[in-house]
Amino acid sequence: MKRIAAIACLLIITGYAYSQSPAEKKIRKSVDSLLKLMTLDEKIGQMNQYNGPWAATGPLTNDGNLLSQIKEGKVGSMLNVTGVKRTRELQEVALQSRLKIPLLFGQDIIHGYRTIFPIPLGEAASWNLAAMEASARVAATEASASGIHWTFAPMVDIARDPRWGRVMEGAGEDPYLGSLIAKARVNGFQGKGLGDTSALMACAKHFAAYGAAVGGRDYNSVDMSLRQLHETYLPPFKAAAEAGAATFMNSFNDINGIPATGNKYIQRDILKGQWKFKGFVVSDWGSIGEMINHGYSKNNYEAAFQAANAGSDMDMESRSYIQNLSRLVKEGKVKMSVIDDAVGRILRKKFEMGLFADPYKFSNENREKAQWNNAEHLAVSRDIARKSIVLLKNEHHILPVSKQAGTIALIGPFAKAQGDNRGFWSYEWPDDSLRMVSLWQGVQKKVSAETKLLYAKGCDFMDSSRAGFAEAVEVAKAAYFVILSVGEGPNMSGEAKSRSSIQLPGVQEELIKAVVATGKPVAVLISAGRPLVFNWTADHAPAIVYTWWLGTEAGNAIADVLFGDYNPSGKLPMSFPVTEGQIPIYYNHYNTGRPAQNDSDKFYRSAYTDLSIYPKYPFGYGLSYADFEYSDIRLSAKSFKPGQTITAAVTVTNKGNTGGTETVQLYIRDLTGSVVRPVKELKGFQQVYIKGGETKEVSFTISANDLRFYNDQLKYIYEPGDFKVFIGTSSRDVKEAGFELR
Ligand code: NOJ
Repeated sequence: MKRIAAIACLLIITGYAYSQSPAEKKIRKSVDSLLKLMTLDEKIGQMNQYNGPWAATGPLTNDGNLLSQIKEGKVGSMLNVTGVKRTRELQEVALQSRLKIPLLFGQDIIHGYRTIFPIPLGEAASWNLAAMEASARVAATEASASGIHWTFAPMVDIARDPRWGRVMEGAGEDPYLGSLIAKARVNGFQGKGLGDTSALMACAKHFAAYGAAVGGRDYNSVDMSLRQLHETYLPPFKAAAEAGAATFMNSFNDINGIPATGNKYIQRDILKGQWKFKGFVVSDWGSIGEMINHGYSKNNYEAAFQAANAGSDMDMESRSYIQNLSRLVKEGKVKMSVIDDAVGRILRKKFEMGLFADPYKFSNENREKAQWNNAEHLAVSRDIARKSIVLLKNEHHILPVSKQAGTIALIGPFAKAQGDNRGFWSYEWPDDSLRMVSLWQGVQKKVSAETKLLYAKGCDFMDSSRAGFAEAVEVAKAAYFVILSVGEGPNMSGEAKSRSSIQLPGVQEELIKAVVATGKPVAVLISAGRPLVFNWTADHAPAIVYTWWLGTEAGNAIADVLFGDYNPSGKLPMSFPVTEGQIPIYYNHYNTGRPAQNDSDKFYRSAYTDLSIYPKYPFGYGLSYADFEYSDIRLSAKSFKPGQTITAAVTVTNKGNTGGTETVQLYIRDLTGSVVRPVKELKGFQQVYIKGGETKEVSFTISANDLRFYNDQLKYIYEPGDFKVFIGTSSRDVKEAGFELR
């Protein structure tokens, strides 16, 4: 009995607990036979990944003998080698190695390859899973046509701190929404599955809890309870694993004192053990070697020992494996079974991708050219770009603007920007900036021939100079309507782009004041990679549209919204703080023993005396040109038992004349638990299109499974008791009712 359990355990550890399908058997056989032919050095070579000599996304080490190392079988994968020509050249070198094992080419295809899509946080604001899957699909189609096999995406880190620069890469603060988005993106990247010529291997990153870096400082430590880790930070990773993500990337941070890269609990016990993940884990850039800086490893030798044993299968750029693993195996410190497991996982993906059958499967230059920026891809980009836009304010319904408005002024540092619309984490191609549609171009195409457009920059986004204000004010005065485009620079968010101040930079808010003072109707557009703070604007500008960085079709998408060809439907995937002092602020917090009920109830309460208890804009918030009104919640029963379900329904009426899409959100609160529960948790949402004057019923089915949580033993359970259910247009604006789980 013990022996059977041990074998079963070994099968799981080695990732071989696969189905018994003929295709699967064939791959397993191929992996096993190849492993038998390999020398130890060749195996270690497969666990080694280098950056190419053309571009870098981290600190480079230049050895100068890349080609000979590839030829000797010392490299399993390359990153940042782009295009059919270059990938083919290096693949040809790899095929001169003794066993002719093809290379895997990986790259950060975060929000598009040639056709650029909104930054991931922007896309998350669409809450439209099909659109996100479609965007990832296009990215995969273009990148795979360019010789790339593997994207280091999606980033599925939950982030509650907008100072952290990398919030732009993720799906925001909520584990439920984040999990659905993780799945949609993995499905989009991997398409019909590895083996298809347009499939790109996905990589769920950064495993784990990188988004919880203390103070929002990139690369910082993470200290949290295991319960919090399981409840909030792991669910999107689990969803990505369940969706079949081919790979995971571990992270730079330590978790409760153990660097993620050397963390056996998260990599071996959870990912490869409990979740039965069959893919491989790549380290983050140099993160194995960085365990020395963490003070966890004495030197690279020890770092390699700790990382390999903890379950990091491939070393990205720290050279710790290539330099130390052989000795570690010979000394018995790293078992051959650990090496075989890691290499087996990597080879398996190469087989699944079809690279052994045809190493040049992704090396067709004609296909490459046909895929770049083609019309179909641009249409997908425009579609999700307009769905990502969030209307924050629209006093007196000043938006949408008429296409025959007479004279329209476009003011601000981003009014004519093209390349900026790309946002961080996208590649700059020689001719591509010109393809990016500026706001100016988008508006120009939209308005009638008689409409005159005026332009003034006003200031640069980082300016301290107000010299351009007078011209901006003159231009505003001469116009019937003003579109004012401000924000943070596209390179102010992203990796290593944490900011202590998240106010609109420079003198931009002063420019807004000067323009609003003209009394003209002004719509302020804010481009950013994170939630920003802009209180004066929020309180005084008549209309505010949050546009993130929208990619290639930015100008067209914004014009679609401004002129009413698309009714805005985006909802915030992160809370927007009133000021940095409120951070971290997120909707699904615990109640505490002394909860403040409102802003005048703050004494001896869990609140700041000098700040509102509310964020400026809550999670789930976003307006429409339509006017949605919710009825009270109707419950099908007051109580139910596990195994049964109840239905919570509302009717939503569009009181306006314009049809629009509303994201109806379902939240639940467990009133008493064996551990404290959040005041609200998103448990469902539906997007419904409702015509002007029309009413629709929206209902959600709730089962005991929706009420599960991790208890203090980390068991995922539900408990009988009383619950509140909320349905509404944002996490704050909801109707509520109660039910009991018996
Ligand atoms: C470091 C980043 O943290 C990671 O997200 C990225 O994929 C790698 N560099 C490779 O560029």
